[in-house]
Amino acid sequence: MAKKHNFNGGPSILPQEVFDAAAAAIIDFNGTGLSILEIGHRTPIFQAVMDESIALVKELMNLSPEQEVLFLHGGASTQFFQVPMNLLDENATAAYLDCGVWGSKSIKEAKIFGNVDVVASSKDRNYRYIPKQYNIPATASYFHYTTNNTIEGTQMHEVPNTTVPLVCDMSSDILSRQMDFTRYGLIYAGAQKNIGAAGVNLVIVNRNMLGKVSRKLPTMMDYRQHIENGSMVNTPPVFAVYVCLLTLRWLKEQGGVAGVEKINEQKAKLLYDTLDELPIFTPAVDKVDRSLMNVVFTMPDAALEKDFLETCKKENLVGVKGHRSVGGFRVSLYNALPLSSVQVLTEVMKQFALQHA
Ligand SMILES: Cc1ncc(COP(=O)(O)O)c(C=O)c1O
Repeated sequence: MAKKHNFNGGPSILPQEVFDAAAAAIIDFNGTGLSILEIGHRTPIFQAVMDESIALVKELMNLSPEQEVLFLHGGASTQFFQVPMNLLDENATAAYLDCGVWGSKSIKEAKIFGNVDVVASSKDRNYRYIPKQYNIPATASYFHYTTNNTIEGTQMHEVPNTTVPLVCDMSSDILSRQMDFTRYGLIYAGAQKNIGAAGVNLVIVNRNMLGKVSRKLPTMMDYRQHIENGSMVNTPPVFAVYVCLLTLRWLKEQGGVAGVEKINEQKAKLLYDTLDELPIFTPAVDKVDRSLMNVVFTMPDAALEKDFLETCKKENLVGVKGHRSVGGFRVSLYNALPLSSVQVLTEVMKQFALQHA
């Protein structure tokens, strides 16, 4: 079977070394004679997996001592409500930026728990840009935004300037570029793009943010319980956490976030330059707000789009079809995608443009 170039939006490509090591661990985990799938989560063997995963996140992100690292169930969508449940009191107000499908879902969930002030929205132009001028009230409990809008293909390149604690959905660009992660009160990300396998969620919370709401919290929803129990209030998704560990080790070997950032910039530049050069393709979002992780574009008509999709299929380029809510194409350039895959794709695009000139 020919190797595919995998541009899927998520779950998405992981490094080949991770697939190999994960497959081996299912048969025999580190010479224990046991599969990773049959090891108790409270054994020293699994505790070592959890400890190293947490330590690597702290190291790769340069976190401060107050920032706790958790591996939780439920995906990023659970964080849409777990965040306000823990941080937003019933009569208090949280500020939210509405920049896409995922951001608007987080707003809907927050409204269940308290007041929500949507400080700006780019819905007026189908989320094709990031609003720049808005005011975050100093009294807000926190300011929530999505760093990278996976479906629409926009990314926030600046950290908003505010004294209000920042809470952020980084599902689709975490660990892809250097940032001052210590500025965040809470960061969450579903693992299935840049961190590992679906089924686990990385949450980084500054412990000073917690214990301030008056409502009672169910144990599984309470970040403090997860901190106290080292992400093992109950059985954690052991295999998904192990895949995270393998991916984090790989990331460290690439020179950490700074190492992959350089290649991510090259990949995105090559693809956007190609799009700008070929009039048959139309980039979907404002230039200044282009995402380095998810590149969204369209073509002049449905027949051409169908043709190009067929061509991609023939050339083993998979996962390029746009999200069902946007159409067109979405090419995801997550950390594990090699530059060579983007080179193949851009060559195919050039050939296609020549044939349809
Ligand atoms: C930015 C962002 N937030 C949230 C989600 C939802 O993640 P999950 O399916 O893990 O709940 C996604 C999924 O793609 C996403 O891209």
